Amino acid sequence: MSSPDAILRQKVQEGSLIESVDEMTDEYKRELRHIVTVSGDTELLSAPAYYYAARKAPSVNAMISAMAIIQDEMGHAHIAYRILEDLGVDREWLMYDREPHEFRYPYAFDIPLDSWVELCVANALYDQAGYTLLGDVFNNTSYGPWKRALVKVSKEETFHLLHGQRWMKRIVESGDHGRQLVQEAVDWMFPLTVEWFGLPDKLKTHSGQLDYKMKGLSNDELRQVWMGEVVPFCESLGLKVPAHRNADDTAYELEYHLPIQFDAIDKRWLWDEHITWEQVVKRWKGRGPRNEAMIEEIQRSRGDFRWMFKDL
Ligand SMILES: [Fe+2]
Ligand SMILES: [Fe+2]
Repeated sequence: MSSPDAILRQKVQEGSLIESVDEMTDEYKRELRHIVTVSGDTELLSAPAYYYAARKAPSVNAMISAMAIIQDEMGHAHIAYRILEDLGVDREWLMYDREPHEFRYPYAFDIPLDSWVELCVANALYDQAGYTLLGDVFNNTSYGPWKRALVKVSKEETFHLLHGQRWMKRIVESGDHGRQLVQEAVDWMFPLTVEWFGLPDKLKTHSGQLDYKMKGLSNDELRQVWMGEVVPFCESLGLKVPAHRNADDTAYELEYHLPIQFDAIDKRWLWDEHITWEQVVKRWKGRGPRNEAMIEEIQRSRGDFRWMFKDL
């Protein structure tokens, strides 16, 4: 006789949607909690990461566009955390009681975005990664409430990445100095976004998220979808990226051998310094330079406002 997990896996692979906790097995719930936590934390941490650079906006209207994006990201985090609440996770704990290293978001956000140029390249590259991942979840996920919530999220992510693309074009076309600044940002952010999609498929023997159809595409497939958007876009602006179509014209291939060493302080890849995936995972888990400051910026709101309600 098949186990409840095996029955559920078959049901979702055949296209059924799960609508409530009552229909889940413990394993399904655990896998769903994990993927939605990564999604919610990524949305939440993009807000302080973008805010850090938004303060360098070249005009009030540019600043307001950046703030609109940050507001969207907070809304996206709220959606994910609300879903987690339905799965029995305490929202107060999610926001305020975790240690900085316990938040699960791409390492890229731990590297400071120091300028308006870097914010715009982040919108074009990072938000394209977010759009790729969430688009896959929207198309394939077996959890009905998440699928429906992503209609709004995907529309807003389109605005974010177009914001990045329009500004990149504008800055590149402003002259050699602008082009150089954009190229320098692409040079360190492109490989970080390649990493965003996780370990290569050949190192992942099994994915509960795919078995339970929380998403539909593997890490390598998602990386290809992302490169399929970003590489032609960058090339259309005359920017160099370390990837091209392979000889059969069937996929993109990187012009460097993963994984390589990254200098997080100088924001520079050491192209010839090859490391192991274990070392990369250690770097991801150890978090990067902005991790603690960003969590502190988020969590201090609880501490700061408690005194207001003390006597009520
Ligand atoms: Fe978002
Ligand atoms: Fe976004």
